[in-house]
Amino acid sequence: MKSTALPIPRVLVADDQADVLESLRLLLKGEGYQIATVASPAAVLAAVEQSEFDCLLMDLNYARDTTSGQEGLDLLTRLQALDNSLPVVVMTAWGSVEVAVEAMRRGARDFIQKPWDNTRLLTIVRSQVELSRALREGLRLESENRLLRPDSAPIVLAHSPAMRGVLDLIQRVAPSDASVLITGEHGSGKEVAARTLHALSNRSKGPIVTVNAGGIAEGVFESELFGHVKGAFTDAKADRVGYFEVASGGTLFLDEIANVPLSQQAKLLRAIETREVHRVGSSKTYRVDVRFLAATNADLRIEVAAGRFREDLLFRINTIEIHVPPLRDRGEDILPLAHSFLGQYAARYRKAISGFDYAAEQVLKTYPWPGNVRELSHAVERAVLMAQGSTIQADDLGLSQASPGQARLEELPLDEAERLLIHQSLERCGGNVSRAAEALGLSRSALYRRLERYGIKPTAGGE
Ligand SMILES: Nc1ncnc2c1ncn2[C@@H]1O[C@H](COP(=O)(O)OP(=O)(O)OP(=O)(O)O)[C@@H](O)[C@H]1O
Ligand SMILES: [Mg+2]
Repeated sequence: MKSTALPIPRVLVADDQADVLESLRLLLKGEGYQIATVASPAAVLAAVEQSEFDCLLMDLNYARDTTSGQEGLDLLTRLQALDNSLPVVVMTAWGSVEVAVEAMRRGARDFIQKPWDNTRLLTIVRSQVELSRALREGLRLESENRLLRPDSAPIVLAHSPAMRGVLDLIQRVAPSDASVLITGEHGSGKEVAARTLHALSNRSKGPIVTVNAGGIAEGVFESELFGHVKGAFTDAKADRVGYFEVASGGTLFLDEIANVPLSQQAKLLRAIETREVHRVGSSKTYRVDVRFLAATNADLRIEVAAGRFREDLLFRINTIEIHVPPLRDRGEDILPLAHSFLGQYAARYRKAISGFDYAAEQVLKTYPWPGNVRELSHAVERAVLMAQGSTIQADDLGLSQASPGQARLEELPLDEAERLLIHQSLERCGGNVSRAAEALGLSRSALYRRLERYGIKPTAGGE
């Protein structure tokens, strides 16, 4: 049994560099914390299993010469499985924002970039310790329940005329049992549309079973969808019920339908038409009471013309087609969506952020959003994590705005891009070559060689 929280807060610090451990130990000890230090992921796990800590402050990089943070990320996943009430603050190299974001997704409560600012580090540790004590006193259960049981009915925000039309169509066709084909670009909201259709249908009490056709190998497609009986093929050790039967009484949502192998399309068509399936290896017929929905970001007419998709199957599924427009064609939806995501992520990451400043709103409105709503959601998540104050600034969004006169990295020749990256890294590290080298994943001497080659003076890198 672990003991209850100790009167003196205990902080575990993990880093493979002895000097980092030593300076953190001194800093935190000076603030009245009890400190334990470890130098490897294995030692972190051992320490956490052995005693209770109020906070873990850990580096993400252990094997020398890597800056990927993968070891630290794996460790986070294991720590979450072990004790997800332990607040973890990760330390990342300058500029490795994506790694920090991934760490937060895996359960880290906060992050700090190296070289750290003492005041900021102490503020973060203090608030995490307080939070962990409050949570361990029982508040946690309550918030956990709220997170684990999200409303099953999806929320579709629709402010633009285009999206209102979509919602209107969904409402009108939902009560019928007609098959519906949902089309639209990646991340535009096809799955949300399918879930809404189900939620508004007479089958809403039944299941909605989502099957991604792109994720099923041709050889097992039939058995996954229709099931099989024991002995039907070598690996069929027992009877298996297919997705059509699992979805009975509800809705079967076949995502990425363009990926259904041509050899399987006739069987799929027959099942949709007759609402009867045969398990592989059996001639017995099972009746399935299923509403069929499909989605794709491909143009199925082109697929038909190219001989990759059966025309009769297309005609069977596209009686009603709902096209979800790309986000760039529904500008009025951007800010309401952004505010909704902001609310969700601010709550999840416990940050008091109330909105976007004017420049950030302009960026949101003018960015072309090639990844649609999903990209917007990720950009807001990142911004919530990056924001230092109570509003999100344009920079926090991390969207590369190609401003006139400033070349985009991917448009530069390789050596120009390298030169630019080195220059930026030095600037961020205040001209400190060792730190810049670490951030770039280079040894000091390798960076010096490049500085010489490009004629960059490190001292001038400060500004
Ligand atoms: N109208 C909307 N209101 C609220 N959230 C939305 C809306 N549209 C999309 N989202 C959110 O955006 C993300 C992407 O949506 P979804 O998964 O439905 O897209 P998709 O078209 O199925 O993407 P893909 O083609 O990549 O499978 C999800 O997190 C979803 O909740
Ligand atoms: Mg989808």
